[in-house]
Amino acid sequence: MRKGVYDMFRRHKITVIGSGATGATTAHLLALKELGDVVLVDIQEGVPQGKALDMWESGPIENFSMKVAGTNDYEVTAGSDIIVVTAGVPRKEGMSRNDLLKVNSEVVFAVVEEASRVSPDAILVVLTNPADVMAYVAQKASGFPTNRVIGQAGVLDSARFRTFLADALNVSPKDISAFVMGGHGDDMVPLVRYSYAGGIPIEKLLAQETIDQIVKRTRTGGGEVLGLMKSSAFYAPASSLAEMVKAVLLDERRILPVISYLDGEYGEHDIYVGVPAIVGGNGVEKVLEVDFTEEEKAAFQRSVASVRQPLSLLSLGAKG
Ligand code: APR
Repeated sequence: MRKGVYDMFRRHKITVIGSGATGATTAHLLALKELGDVVLVDIQEGVPQGKALDMWESGPIENFSMKVAGTNDYEVTAGSDIIVVTAGVPRKEGMSRNDLLKVNSEVVFAVVEEASRVSPDAILVVLTNPADVMAYVAQKASGFPTNRVIGQAGVLDSARFRTFLADALNVSPKDISAFVMGGHGDDMVPLVRYSYAGGIPIEKLLAQETIDQIVKRTRTGGGEVLGLMKSSAFYAPASSLAEMVKAVLLDERRILPVISYLDGEYGEHDIYVGVPAIVGGNGVEKVLEVDFTEEEKAAFQRSVASVRQPLSLLSLGAKG
């Protein structure tokens, strides 16, 4: 991504597509964290411009130097280091993430095609639901190498898992590390065996019944928020995106659960699905393969099947 030694000292340019609840919250977080100048894009005229101006004006108070600009024109996004895709239609109550398949795949294909054309070296981070399928769509629309297209799901799902575990243990969520694998649906796979509180396996600290309840609540975490406020979650999703953007732009080589392309890993081919991976300057640097019990393996395979099914309904013109 960086082309020379002096480039290391220039500011990053970040594009966030979709200036709705998640996109705008993400853009503000990125500016607050001083990760780069932010361009917010939307199809609605005036909305990205107005929200960006409002955020930019928080700079003197929040003490950030970053610029935030809003636009409907992809030329303004040219030369971005990273592009975050939140454009699309969110879930309404009673809808599954797959109900969004047709409309969101068209939106994601169109916006990624435009944005990737003017930022051919960028990393793409896709949040639009159904996220596993949309990551695949984004890769086809951009023609980017598969490692440069990542989907967001696991950081959010595991943040929910960590929140509930920390609450049950009455400890800080900072000390909880947990993994959630598989598709970003209600059959995701929270991996209890690989979850720790301060390095101690959670199975040693919590009763199985409590763990089971937390796993269930994690799987339906998005639906719980939706049921309460009748619209899709966006604070924790935006924080998850900001964490992924930071991992890439600072080349942190974080181990994060992300939606990554599988080319033989876990015995799967030609699919994007949630797995633990090293995330750095090149996007997904490496997918990490963990051992499964028979039960976990079956759960992961069910989850993969639930991503393949909607994928098979789409006819995607392959670019790369
Ligand atoms: N080009 C650019 N922006 C678009 C396009 C398009 N073709 N189509 C829709 N948008 C914009 C909308 O105008 C809106 O501002 O995407 C934004 C979506 O924002 P919200 O409706 O507030 O939805 P949000 O809650 O942010 O969720 C966005 O993330 O979590 C997922 O399921 C969720 O897929 C949904 C996405």
